[in-house]
Amino acid sequence: MSEKISRRSFLKAGGLVAAAATAELAVNGGVPQAKAQEGLGKVALPYPAQEVGPAKALKAGQTQNFNYPDKDSPCILLKVGKAVPGGVGPDNDIVAYSTLCSHKGCPVTFDAAAGVLKCPCHYTIFDPERLGQMVCGQATVNLPQVVLEYNAQNDSVTAVAINGLIYGRQANIL
Ligand code: FES
Repeated sequence: MSEKISRRSFLKAGGLVAAAATAELAVNGGVPQAKAQEGLGKVALPYPAQEVGPAKALKAGQTQNFNYPDKDSPCILLKVGKAVPGGVGPDNDIVAYSTLCSHKGCPVTFDAAAGVLKCPCHYTIFDPERLGQMVCGQATVNLPQVVLEYNAQNDSVTAVAINGLIYGRQANIL
């Protein structure tokens, strides 16, 4: 059964919508809601910049352990051997990840033969060539990837942030 909307009730409804929008503007300090939400999803945590080591010292398949963004967060630096997403260094092939499995926090290790990061607890496999993507296993999210920067002047690789939440934390920066 269809109802006809009179011109009067249509205008009345329109007035209510306009009033609601005005109230919203007042609540947001005059910033339209769409504008206010533009920044959502963008975080600017105060990550420290931490030098991890020289890029050219690493050979393909070689790893280096470090902690970032604090001593309780173990990570692994890895030279994949070919350019990969997020890779830095002269060959864009150096990446780094948290070694705390995103499933239940067991320490993942690099399997050089298979070229993957493996968790010994429930056998989840992560792909370091694809942003730490979960390939199979119990984990439901990727391995947090350490964002790296490369300085060609002094050949240094520096950790500057983390994409993804470190296992067991409510925020990466404590
Ligand atoms: S803790 Fe790694 S798969 Fe469960």
